[in-house]
Amino acid sequence: MRRSTKTEVLRILRSAGGEPVSGEVLASEIGVSRNSIWKAVTALKDEGYEIEGRQKRGYVLSESDVLSADEIKRYLNNPHCSSKIIIYDTVDSTNNAAKRYAAENSGGDVFDRVFIAKEQTAGKGRLGRSFYSPLGSGLYISFLLRPGIMTESAVMLTTAASVAVCEAIAAAIGEKTEIKWVNDVYCRGKKICGILTEAVSDIESGSVESVVIGIGVNISTTDFPDDLGKVAGSLDSTDADIRSRLAAEIINQIDKIVCGEILEHGDYGYIKKYKERSMVLGKDIRIVNTDESAHVIDIDERGGLVVETESGIRTISTGEISIRLK
Ligand code: BTN
Repeated sequence: MRRSTKTEVLRILRSAGGEPVSGEVLASEIGVSRNSIWKAVTALKDEGYEIEGRQKRGYVLSESDVLSADEIKRYLNNPHCSSKIIIYDTVDSTNNAAKRYAAENSGGDVFDRVFIAKEQTAGKGRLGRSFYSPLGSGLYISFLLRPGIMTESAVMLTTAASVAVCEAIAAAIGEKTEIKWVNDVYCRGKKICGILTEAVSDIESGSVESVVIGIGVNISTTDFPDDLGKVAGSLDSTDADIRSRLAAEIINQIDKIVCGEILEHGDYGYIKKYKERSMVLGKDIRIVNTDESAHVIDIDERGGLVVETESGIRTISTGEISIRLK
């Protein structure tokens, strides 16, 4: 299948705005045979596009939520990113896929690859937890970044990623979101996104030269297992092509904030946005690991949580600590 025929069929059906376009018109506009059009339409349907073939009138494209590299490319700001996308129907974990790729391929750009799955069979969360990743209702996306030598800034990529997700959601569907330290994203009081950042070590040198930032967003998930539903929610968006649109906006923001501002220019201005979106700043919290009550005074320039407890003021900077809002 020539990919360009498929892309062209899609473009023409889209611009027809729901009106039928005959196979004959498609064939003559694209300059291929009717049989090629039929094959292209079949391939598009297999990818999930809702295309109805109306007798004697032609093909009609309905709004479809298709997660594909072609759909994502439509919304990318930087065309350079479009060749970096790898999509799976199903995978154990996109973070694992990124780490396998890093182990097999050395070098690469700072923005090396982005791995996206329609479903994960072994999605991973922070602190050894699993991440519920059902088919079709979420977005599971991991970035393989190669910042070079591990600078201090690499530690901050994870907080920057949560700002990137918030900005991306605002751009895609205009929804307001908040960040619970360190990097859980909340919408309407429920956690709708988790982020797991993993460092990839070079086995020979032992140095950490790659970072995988994995982001899971619940888009229309409703049936959470066990007690998860008490905390977890979803964006509840039913917009057509929401998964591809959101994937593209997240790629745009990671490229802008993480690769551009932080890694290229050493600009940490995103912390201001992080603080503006924080749902713990100025609040009383419980530090789960030490079972302490604390008041959040500030978030410092490195994303550390400055808290006041009975024993004084200190900064929590490790991601291995859980907090709860009181
Ligand atoms: C958390 O909330 O504890 C973090 C969840 C991170 C989930 C994402 S989904 C894409 C990537 N692949 C994984 O296995 N995990 C991350």
